[in-house]
Amino acid sequence: MTPPFILSPSLLSADFGRLADELAALEAAGLTWAHLDVMDGLFVPNITFGPPVIAALRRRSKLYFDAHLMIERPERYLAAFREAGADLICVHAEATVHLERAVSEIRRLGAAPAVALNPATSLATVEYLLPQLDMVLVMTVNPGFGGQSFIPFCLDKVRDLAAIRQKRGLSFRIQADGGVTPENTAALVAAGADVLVSGSAFFGHPPYKERLDVFHAAAAAPAP
Ligand code: DX5
Ligand code: ZN
Repeated sequence: MTPPFILSPSLLSADFGRLADELAALEAAGLTWAHLDVMDGLFVPNITFGPPVIAALRRRSKLYFDAHLMIERPERYLAAFREAGADLICVHAEATVHLERAVSEIRRLGAAPAVALNPATSLATVEYLLPQLDMVLVMTVNPGFGGQSFIPFCLDKVRDLAAIRQKRGLSFRIQADGGVTPENTAALVAAGADVLVSGSAFFGHPPYKERLDVFHAAAAAPAP
């Protein structure tokens, strides 16, 4: 049975001293995506990793690299992240004044373009861009850290975005990112999310195969 959503584990909560081994463990457990949280210490307080680390991991993994760029003016680095092996490149609407140019460039580079919206950022921000996007990342926490609590009104935002997608006959994926757990999985999937990012609620609960099964079973449970 096709799982009702894609789980994209956030490496931010993985063991940074063994990232290649962690990716191999994800692959062995049946995961297909890996969520790479790139942080520059400017757009968000934390600093994580960039293209050199991603390139090294690319040589060791066949997973779909879902790169979430929490960096100022990401247009400066799109080619570098594509070159490093990112399959999907997600830029924050709040991080560039030229969002359409960034999205077009990601597509030109051959990666899947996505836009991330912070919790308080309106869906209207991407209204004219939606036909060009492979995915919209709805932040369900404020970006910069793992282990935060889900912001409840963001569930409505996922639902509203899914309604726009249906009304306009579009097919972009909706990703929920931040504070995702087995407990809120059913509600997010029912609201229209196709990709769920989980960091602490996934990596904090090995073994990974069994944890993936818990998330898939949670999606099948009746939404609260
Ligand atoms: C936060 C990141 C998220 C975060 C998810 O800025 O974009 O991907 O790592 O971690 P959890 O699932 O622990 O909230
Ligand atoms: Zn993320």
